[in-house]
Amino acid sequence: MRVLVTGCAGFIGSHLLDRLLAREAVEVIGWDPDVARIAHLRDHPRLAFRQQRLGQGDTLPALEADMRRCDWVVNLSAICNPSLYNTEALRTIHVNLFEAYPVIEMAARLGRRLVHFSTSEVYGRTLASYLGSRAGDDPDLYMLDAETTPMIMGPIHNQRWSYATAKQMIERLIYAHHVEQGLPFAVVRPFNFFGPRMDYLPGIEAEGVPRVLPMFLSAMLRGQPMQLVDGGHARRTITSIHDAIDALMAILDRPEASLGHFYNIGNPENEVSMRDLAHAMRRAFVRVTGQPRFADHPIVEVTSQDFYGAGYEDSDRRIMDIGKEAARLGWRPTRDLDSLLDETVAWYWERYGDGA
Ligand code: UGA
Repeated sequence: MRVLVTGCAGFIGSHLLDRLLAREAVEVIGWDPDVARIAHLRDHPRLAFRQQRLGQGDTLPALEADMRRCDWVVNLSAICNPSLYNTEALRTIHVNLFEAYPVIEMAARLGRRLVHFSTSEVYGRTLASYLGSRAGDDPDLYMLDAETTPMIMGPIHNQRWSYATAKQMIERLIYAHHVEQGLPFAVVRPFNFFGPRMDYLPGIEAEGVPRVLPMFLSAMLRGQPMQLVDGGHARRTITSIHDAIDALMAILDRPEASLGHFYNIGNPENEVSMRDLAHAMRRAFVRVTGQPRFADHPIVEVTSQDFYGAGYEDSDRRIMDIGKEAARLGWRPTRDLDSLLDETVAWYWERYGDGA
């Protein structure tokens, strides 16, 4: 199997490459402007690495030459950091829609199998969040189904949705290419994958506001408070990166069953509010380091206006039924929240903890 991976040195890409290259029969061509997360693979004999950004200069002929040599295209290249959606909406839309589209069009024209990474954020907010107390506890109003749930996003001036709408448009283009030209595709909607090498640790590895896992990790490591945006009531289903890569490998291994579908990839057993996640993080630090001081690590509240600036609006909840995914892929996530946090905290503690 030959696989072209765009965004191969991102968080997901780096774990995917580890798994793909562990198989003797797989060759990978990887595109990414950065190399840090795959430095350990850089000289791998079955990896051809192009240190190149999509849409940079006149890269399309080189991309096409690479795609012609591959059976699969895994398109991971994206901006997926919520602090940029409202502050850099133009760049967010450009990268996630206009730079992504040539890859899709090319895969359709060449008849290559495409696995495109979208987002659980395409659903926007749940119906239940708009109905408020009138919604009661009706699962039909919040359980997300990859083929039937509508997508509900806030008004245009809430630029948080620049990303989700760009991703939705790409999904619609992929589906149109499938219906009209037979593009063989699978669309993956990740539900908060957690694990080593995610984003960057702010104040340690780089400056900025990454996603919640590195924000909380950095706060714990630097002795600063974990910040709960708008009270930490938003809920997410946390998924081990290893369970996620298992699902991806199943997609690649079973094309007859997997192609032509949209996938919610996540672990519904691991649903938590961000407040609960902060408490779980404290407990993981105590377990991993053996230091009781982490049990009382400070947690503060901050408004989304102060944290992200104007134009932020949150997805209230992301929980799904994965029955169809499990049946098609022969896959089920197995890592619970505590075990995946322990693994992740241990990895960062070894690099950045006391005395590291
Ligand atoms: C992001 C991306 O937009 C999605 O495309 C992607 O699928 C998802 O990450 C993911 O990792 O799968 P989101 O879950 O909103 O979506 O990203 P986070 O920045 O990790 O935020 C999660 C929640 O934590 C939000 O409610 C946010 O307001 C909150 N948060 C974030 C905090 O309470 N404190 C922080 O320090 C950071």
